[in-house]
Amino acid sequence: MNKISIIGAGMTGATTAHWLAERELADLVLVDIVEGVPQGKALDMLEAMPIVNKDVELVGSNDYAATKGSDIVIITAGMPRKPGMSRDDLLKVNAEIVGKAATETLKYSPDAIFVVLTNPLDTMAYLAMKMTKLPRNRVIGQAGILDSARMRAFVALETGVSVENINCYVLGGHGDEMVPLTRHSNIAGIPLKEYIPADKLEAIVNRTRKGGGEIVNLLKTSAYYAPAAACAQMAEAILKNKNLIVPCAAYMDGEYGLKDMFFGVPVMLGRNGMEKVIEYSLDETERAMFEKSAAAVRETHDALKSLVTF
Ligand code: NAI
Ligand code: 2OP
Repeated sequence: MNKISIIGAGMTGATTAHWLAERELADLVLVDIVEGVPQGKALDMLEAMPIVNKDVELVGSNDYAATKGSDIVIITAGMPRKPGMSRDDLLKVNAEIVGKAATETLKYSPDAIFVVLTNPLDTMAYLAMKMTKLPRNRVIGQAGILDSARMRAFVALETGVSVENINCYVLGGHGDEMVPLTRHSNIAGIPLKEYIPADKLEAIVNRTRKGGGEIVNLLKTSAYYAPAAACAQMAEAILKNKNLIVPCAAYMDGEYGLKDMFFGVPVMLGRNGMEKVIEYSLDETERAMFEKSAAAVRETHDALKSLVTF
């Protein structure tokens, strides 16, 4: 059986374990600093396995040793946003947590592929890669699957078409400058622009961009069902070597004209993690949106560099 460790047994971490357990993909370990919480959540889910007929072992621990031999490590540890906070406000506190989570788990799982969820996402993924010194295929950030799923959900609400027919691609940094690519998005192959009136499409794009904040305002903490489902999809694509093309945050080495930064782009996920970056052709408007978003991510990367030496 494969093994996946999830660092941070809070809302996103535990919900990721829940989605993963249902898929019977791997044995699961939850690690958190709070005593009792990872143990209690893991035991509760373990006791659900006979009901859903899944043979999955779940273990909770406060000790990284429990993660030994993991195929995938998913880092969700850190503070979530409160109302009025931007993802970047979380930078300082979460950099310390993610840096430790990445280096500690690597000691016990030298071959693992790392999926990072903690915000500010692009910069936390950059930090995890720099701290572990892993090659870029082994550190991937989750953002684009979630942002694209939000857009797909809003398109489904607007049109009444099955989500299965709706393909949306939201790229760029995981912030307010994210880039919903309407030209590349479609309903069963029909471009969104041909299917949905312009004003309605614009409203969908705006709601997508603010999708995280919409949930924070309602819940007073950040989303977890959809982000966790996205992490589970990534883990499945990797373990099953699916070569699935999905938007994720990946380390840029010249693609899209970007270097030495994480950015949301379509990638192929397979058994080696991020197998390759897929390059879309962009028109002038799309490129301008990319550049604006990249500038925002670079600013947070620079703020990180003033806090941490790699
Ligand atoms: P949460 O507060 O429910 O859970 C975080 C957990 O991390 C807590 O249980 C806490 O005890 C634990 N933790 C803190 N320091 C730790 C350490 N040093 N070692 C191990 N565990 C530690 O928060 P939630 O909702 O799960 O969010 C987690 C992070 O994920 C936040 O930064 C949030 O902004 C981010 N997020 C990112 C999304 C994305 O799409 N990239 C979507 C949703 C959330
Ligand atoms: C989200 O987009 C807060 O990043 C988190 O829901």
